[in-house]
Amino acid sequence: MILKTNNLCKQYQHKDGLVDALNHVSFEVNEGDFVTITGASGSGKTTLLLSLAGLIHATSGEIRIKDFDVVNASDRKLSDFRRKHIGFVMQSFALIPYLTAIENVMLPLAISKFKKEQKYQKALALLKLVDLENRKNHLPSELSAGQQQRVAIARALVNSPTLILADEPTGNLDPSLSTDILNLLKKINKEEKITILMVTHSPLAAEFGNRKINLHNGCIN
Ligand SMILES: Nc1ncnc2c1ncn2[C@@H]1O[C@H](COP(=O)(O)OP(=O)(O)OP(=O)(O)O)[C@@H](O)[C@H]1O
Ligand SMILES: [Mg+2]
Repeated sequence: MILKTNNLCKQYQHKDGLVDALNHVSFEVNEGDFVTITGASGSGKTTLLLSLAGLIHATSGEIRIKDFDVVNASDRKLSDFRRKHIGFVMQSFALIPYLTAIENVMLPLAISKFKKEQKYQKALALLKLVDLENRKNHLPSELSAGQQQRVAIARALVNSPTLILADEPTGNLDPSLSTDILNLLKKINKEEKITILMVTHSPLAAEFGNRKINLHNGCIN
């Protein structure tokens, strides 16, 4: 087992009242799983991923990733853990606009023991994996949407993460590009043995995993 949540709850405090975004969510994920997370808009999917990554603080409950206690860790330990173990892929690609594709991929290695040339070679190997070697010196604005998403995936992989958390990685792409990205994630899952949790609205995309979690009003059903 690589990830486990137990009675995970998240309430947002809002001036209009409390929002129960996650309600006693308990599940386990095994190493090598490709889990797809579905549910209506507002059902808590993004909240779940952000909580797992420790980017927001759960209100109560437990999260363990590789025996690391996400809920009770200090911010410093959390950012260190995130950097080493988690790759995050978002719907909006969140690339740095003034950095080239390869510089974007190298970015997570900024604080690492690797020398500049090693960082470059690692990033280059990943751009090859996502079939973008010939676009390495392009800025995000000089890439298509699908290419930008592939750069974002390469960046999420550069730290050799234990876990990839992907929030609608194909939400902004047309159907054929979506299939390319999903096949790429599947390949990474199989060949690099990286565990993936992927939020999706698409029933087709949900079929790419080996396990499904459906959220309804912050509860697993
Ligand atoms: N910062 C916040 N403050 C208050 N309420 C929030 C905040 N972020 C999200 N919520 C509420 O929490 C609930 C869950 O939101 P979340 O973003 O997790 O949904 P989602 O399943 O990812 O939806 P979508 O499919 O539309 O992206 C929603 O009802 C939302 O309005
Ligand atoms: Mg969301």
